[in-house]
Amino acid sequence: MLQHHHYDAVIIGSGAAGLTLALHLDPGLRVAILSKGTLSAGSSSGAQGGVAAVLNQERDSQEQHINDTLIAGAGLCRKEAVEHIVEHGQASIQWLIAQGVPFTPDEKTSGFEFHLTREGGHSERRIIHAADATGKAISDTLISKARTATNIDLYEHHLAIDLVTTQKLGLSEQHCAGLYALDIKSDTVKLFQGKTTIIATGGASKAYLFTSNTDGASGDGIAMAWRSGCRVANMEFNQFHPTGLYHPKAKSFLISEAVRGEGGRLVRPDGSRFMKDYDYRGELAPRDIVARAIDHEMKKLGADCLFLDISHKPADFIKSHFPMIHERCLGYGIDITREPIPVVPAAHYTCGGILVNEKGQTDIPGLFAIGECTYTGLHGANRLASNSLLECFVAARSCAEEINQSINQTPDALEIPHWDDSQVSDADENVVIAHNWDELRRFMWDYVGIVRTNKRLQRAKNRVNLLQYEINDFYSHFKISNDLIELRNLAQVSELIIDSSLERKESRGLHYNVDYPLTDENARETVLTPRNFNKKTALKFSPLGS
Ligand code: FAD
Ligand code: SIN
Repeated sequence: MLQHHHYDAVIIGSGAAGLTLALHLDPGLRVAILSKGTLSAGSSSGAQGGVAAVLNQERDSQEQHINDTLIAGAGLCRKEAVEHIVEHGQASIQWLIAQGVPFTPDEKTSGFEFHLTREGGHSERRIIHAADATGKAISDTLISKARTATNIDLYEHHLAIDLVTTQKLGLSEQHCAGLYALDIKSDTVKLFQGKTTIIATGGASKAYLFTSNTDGASGDGIAMAWRSGCRVANMEFNQFHPTGLYHPKAKSFLISEAVRGEGGRLVRPDGSRFMKDYDYRGELAPRDIVARAIDHEMKKLGADCLFLDISHKPADFIKSHFPMIHERCLGYGIDITREPIPVVPAAHYTCGGILVNEKGQTDIPGLFAIGECTYTGLHGANRLASNSLLECFVAARSCAEEINQSINQTPDALEIPHWDDSQVSDADENVVIAHNWDELRRFMWDYVGIVRTNKRLQRAKNRVNLLQYEINDFYSHFKISNDLIELRNLAQVSELIIDSSLERKESRGLHYNVDYPLTDENARETVLTPRNFNKKTALKFSPLGS
């Protein structure tokens, strides 16, 4: 018998975006938060550097932050989105401080009570942080608030499979009515019916072989929204963080950009610096430039990795600013106070995603999206460091305001059919799933990575279509599992990344194609439209450059 839950708001995702939204909804609303892992399983709790915002008004200004964001975005940011997010930064940080997030205080009197660090592309120190484990400090604080809120029910290990929309049910009015989710522990499918449904599922960097993200970053929300009829934008812009730790035992461990912000130097194996050969800002150039420079040097030298060296700074300084990185590296036998850290670029952040407006509304009424899974126009062709958490907080607060105001106008609950698995059997060859995961992530890394060509993109397109055929066949004949659901989503977002990359006939920001090395004068967004797109209910949106 299908378990059936009714809520006012069903939030998929318990990262910075999902938790912030839940804590801003009217306490009279009944709210469910689903996470496919534990509540702290996403990228938010792994965030290191901090949150960018204009906090020290004496030294910094919103104009400077807006300008830095626009420069990093390589001409493709939506200025009104940048302004909205930057202008609401300070209020979001004040809310986090009021929740009790233990940001690092400033031991000197810099005119602001918290320490502000610096990262690539920022013209001023404006990153508020909790040492080098900012995400954990924020997640722990928000999770404990959500646990004590009486209107919020938390569903860990519940994996959203697909959205339920009235269009799928054969009705003419389009509206999102909730979702089906797999309770991973009991291996049963449940229905979560909501007056509003909010996707806050994070990014899709797991599409790449080497990534700073945890295993769950499989783009589920983007794939679900696309399948239900939402447009997606700018999926070709996947950000590669320049400095993932290179060590056979370190899975997905990042060396924060703040290490460079506090004086860390990138060096070749012989100890020579190279970043000034690529950009006048040296180690603090925007990420796309630094990651490409490292990739180029590695290929030129035939090196497996390059190095990030902060050992010229006093050991006490390193240990107090980067206690977590220092300890983790020591665990791998690297003492960062004495020796350089081996690093390689790693897929880190999905700049594109579900097309939304500043309230988080999507093309489907009743369906909202916030956080890394969205495309708001903030990041353009390349995200400025530490702007992502900022976007999560500001977007979640604007979205909550909209839901609090509009929820009573939502249509009444519908009759939704049960999940039907009567025609499927237990999988006989799970090796197919494991093999396809590996194959997909490897060809995405090799063909759709930091440097692209038309030929490689076309090869990737042929392969992803073949994999999708196999995955869909598997999906329709065998019982679902979390690995299969994630693989299906990963293949879907990979196809969206490849298609968007093929559409862009220039190089800009994170998208570098050897066959089109120049940047067009006219900056254009890539907007993909699904076959079941419903124009009548869609957002009003005119793409840049169209
Ligand atoms: P996430 O925090 O990724 O949360 C996603 C949630 O969705 C999780 O709870 C997950 O379980 C759930 N979920 C996903 N799919 C499903 C499904 N199908 N069903 C149910 N639940 C699902 N940005 C900064 O601004 N500053 C930083 O210092 C910084 N450091 C970073 C360091 C690392 C190592 C990484 C990986 C990223 C960093 N970023 C940083 C980026 C930033 O952390 C993320 O963009 C941001 O946290 C995303 O938040 P989110 O709420 O959108 O998603
Ligand atoms: C980092 O600490 O380098 C990550 C910052 C970010 O991704 O914004």
